[in-house]
Amino acid sequence: MAVLRTRNLKKYYGSGENQVKALDGVNLFVERGEFVAVVGTSGSGKSTLLHMLGGLDIPTSGEVYVDDKNIGKLKNDALCVFRRRKIGFVFQSYNLVPVLNAYENIVLPIELDGNTVDRAYVDRVIDVLGLKDRLQSLPSQLSGGQQQRVAIARALAAKPSILLADEPTGNLDSRTSQDVLGLLKVTGEKFAQTIIMITHNEEIAQLADRIIRIEDGKISEGYEPDDIGRRKIPGEGGEADE
Ligand SMILES: Nc1ncnc2c1ncn2[C@@H]1O[C@H](COP(=O)(O)OP(=O)(O)O)[C@@H](O)[C@H]1O
Ligand SMILES: [Mg+2]
Repeated sequence: MAVLRTRNLKKYYGSGENQVKALDGVNLFVERGEFVAVVGTSGSGKSTLLHMLGGLDIPTSGEVYVDDKNIGKLKNDALCVFRRRKIGFVFQSYNLVPVLNAYENIVLPIELDGNTVDRAYVDRVIDVLGLKDRLQSLPSQLSGGQQQRVAIARALAAKPSILLADEPTGNLDSRTSQDVLGLLKVTGEKFAQTIIMITHNEEIAQLADRIIRIEDGKISEGYEPDDIGRRKIPGEGGEADE
């Protein structure tokens, strides 16, 4: 089963001459456990796509299905709950709460959701991300790379269906970027976590299982869309793989 798929997803901003087609008919199909990189130049629609996938913004038309649920049908409160439980976000800025230490930041979303922390699982995530010795530190006492690792741990802690990352290493030097992404990949594999990561860096994209290219709001490479939003398997005459 696809953990995520979209059908003819469009997002237009403005109208008339000023209209921008940020997304213009995107059909995407992501299997559980896949690590997908979305690449494209600045302004190609990457962030817009991520916002639609994570229910942060509403498409002009088309649908997004997460775990086979059409998220466009969710009302405000339900959409909030959906985001908290199903999606882990990692952005370029780490967005950590400055007065909470690393551990408190990691478990904050779970506690806000009124759930008990799966301590054994969270400890494993912390371990893989190499944060064991930094749990008592405040964000201000951590390097950029460490702060982003805390943000990744926080995104994974609630066991989301999908981890969405928008230029997660955009603020890090290239060496630290490689370290953080290596860890992201390892954690993804260890916990069979589906990851969709945006980047404009080709080298970074190579770490992913699959690369999707977006150009002027359309997917241009790495994926063969069809009108029902499923991926065609090469050599199978266009049969959908569901
Ligand atoms: N809120 C908005 N209002 C108007 N235009 C927008 C808005 N957000 C994005 N855009 C436009 O949509 C296009 C895609 O933007 P974006 O998804 O941020 O690109 P990327 O992340 O690939 O750099 C750009 O032309 C951008 O200017
Ligand atoms: Mg962007």
